[in-house]
Amino acid sequence: MNHKKPCEGCLSRRQALSTGAQLGLGVAAVAAISACGGDSKKNGNPGSTVPTASGLATLDFATYPNLQTTGGSYRLNINGNPVSVTRMSDTSVVAVVAVCTHQGATLGDVSGGSMSCPRHGATFSADGTATGGPTGGNLTQYPATLGTTGVTIKVA
Ligand code: FES
Repeated sequence: MNHKKPCEGCLSRRQALSTGAQLGLGVAAVAAISACGGDSKKNGNPGSTVPTASGLATLDFATYPNLQTTGGSYRLNINGNPVSVTRMSDTSVVAVVAVCTHQGATLGDVSGGSMSCPRHGATFSADGTATGGPTGGNLTQYPATLGTTGVTIKVA
């Protein structure tokens, strides 16, 4: 039996069946809306909720090892928002709200330095710059600093 959990923003099979039935959709349509195109595990720990204290979220390298390497990234839940955190270089890291500026869909994981919107195909660089598709501008960035033991994100 498959107990795979749906990714963030995806419908579970039960939710899809219920929604499909309410909308009068057939089996094929229900299968389409229940399918998840994202690989929510490819960045290691996306979707985990990070606690905040005094307006700061702290990501230590022991828990988030990908942030020790340039290009490493996580999508996390911080203050109720999906946030993509990406190591950009030896000295910098970025944290952006991973919500599309077009119509608010949750963006996919950062891959190859960019992320895309599953709804209409907008694309953004890892630092939140809009790079293509129907966007409403750049993503919101949180100030993020790289320390010797981890990353600190100012969210308030
Ligand atoms: S909601 Fe993201 S491109 Fe439309």
